[in-house]
Amino acid sequence: MSEAPFEAELPVSPHSAASFGRRRQPAIAEQAPDEHELAAPAAGAPSPPGARPTSLDAIAELRRLCLSRLDPVAAAATRAERLTLEIERLIAEIATERRIQLNGREQRQLAGELVDDMLGLGPLEPLLADDSINDIMVNGPGSVFVERAGRLERVPVRFRDSQHVANICQRIAAAVGRRVDESSPMVDVRLKDGSRVNIVLPPLALDGPCISIRKFARRVIDFARLIEIGSLTAPLARALEIAARCRLNVIISGGTGSGKTTLMNAMSRLIDSSERIVTVEDAAELQLQQPHVVRLETRPASLEGRGEITQRDLVRNALRMRPDRIIIGEVRAAEAFDMLQAMNTGHDGSLSTIHANTTRDALTRIENMVQMGNMGLPAKAIRTQIVGAVDLIVQVERQRDGVRRVTQVTEICGLEGEIVTMNDFFLFEVQGETMGGRLFGRYRASRIRPSFHQRLAYFGLERAWLAALEEAER
Ligand SMILES: Nc1ncnc2c1ncn2[C@@H]1O[C@H](COP(=O)(O)OP(=O)(O)OP(=O)(O)O)[C@@H](O)[C@H]1O
Ligand SMILES: [Mg+2]
Repeated sequence: MSEAPFEAELPVSPHSAASFGRRRQPAIAEQAPDEHELAAPAAGAPSPPGARPTSLDAIAELRRLCLSRLDPVAAAATRAERLTLEIERLIAEIATERRIQLNGREQRQLAGELVDDMLGLGPLEPLLADDSINDIMVNGPGSVFVERAGRLERVPVRFRDSQHVANICQRIAAAVGRRVDESSPMVDVRLKDGSRVNIVLPPLALDGPCISIRKFARRVIDFARLIEIGSLTAPLARALEIAARCRLNVIISGGTGSGKTTLMNAMSRLIDSSERIVTVEDAAELQLQQPHVVRLETRPASLEGRGEITQRDLVRNALRMRPDRIIIGEVRAAEAFDMLQAMNTGHDGSLSTIHANTTRDALTRIENMVQMGNMGLPAKAIRTQIVGAVDLIVQVERQRDGVRRVTQVTEICGLEGEIVTMNDFFLFEVQGETMGGRLFGRYRASRIRPSFHQRLAYFGLERAWLAALEEAER
């Protein structure tokens, strides 16, 4: 009976305990490789008594054999240290069996890679563990970039092939009960640590599966830290602090990855702990410290195209939850209208971010978004809403030296005819560049009396506001 050897209970290696993730394996003889596997250069030749040298092929063969003898489900349930130990033993066994010479370092490296593949996110693990990296971008198996200190750089991390990347994608999605395959080739998910991940598979991605990860910042970036980094100055921070305290409605605007969410997190820390805050996000990233926070997250449509819950649905629902403040992670679509409604109907102090390149641009985008969701609403009516709702727009930018800076703080003053009038309280002017390539400059501040001066007075913060502006220019 030819199948007998497969069914026989084999003594597992003397080192390994039965529960570890090895498959019940056939006898070594059964695992005899195909002819060509052994037909490596040394096979026919008078082979050295010891072993074959380690070529990349030999390591690939070792990896393949190891994987074929491991049970991924059992391995996934094993602790990392134990699995590493067992895999190292397995590698040693197979290396001896196949006469592949491997030094200790190579053996540990291979074991590490296998453990990362089985328990974690494979070659991405070292990048995830590196705190100096903000973003990880995989554009197919051989092209991996990271953002470090505000700059993009290519890293020598490689996946074996597209399938290897695809497997990691599956693992990321499966961990939160989602699927990523031909029928849903684009997904947004979060890793266990809160990092935000976007996956796009071929054929939509032409050069292999793409993964974009915005890592969860372990180190909190509050105003003190922002000042330290040079993202803003102390007087500007004070002005934003005053804006948060006296419940102005603030929109943070900026390009992709410019630091919008981070600044919003920093501002949200200034909200009083007695307030009830409802947050609405596509992928939860906000880290509010207050005790009374309700977090809502959108839901994509199911595979049958049903059950989608949009930000607009959530904002409308949030209004029925007696919120003191509503925070919307990023306005992107029709919910802009509901956000303005919320800001205009007593939910002062609401915050949101928007993708735009200047504060004027941000205004136009809000207008367009409202128009898209409410066809036929005249531009003037929308602008009146905006002027009534939004107090300040704060622009952030990742500048060419890699530093993310607040570049503009603009007040929405009013409507003159059909034009929204605005005033820049702070405007960053680049003055030059240091030897090290770092930009330096100053803020120009405007002393015009703000349209929200009554509110400043009501909170007793009028003087503090003026002082911040004066100090900003010094
Ligand atoms: N002022 C800053 N100084 C240094 N690093 C920052 C600063 N602000 C944000 N970062 C880092 O930059 C990355 C992008 O920040 P963030 O998520 O806030 O940007 P974003 O504009 O919200 O991005 P997206 O457009 O993708 O929503 C994060 O890793 C964050 O930790
Ligand atoms: Mg963001």
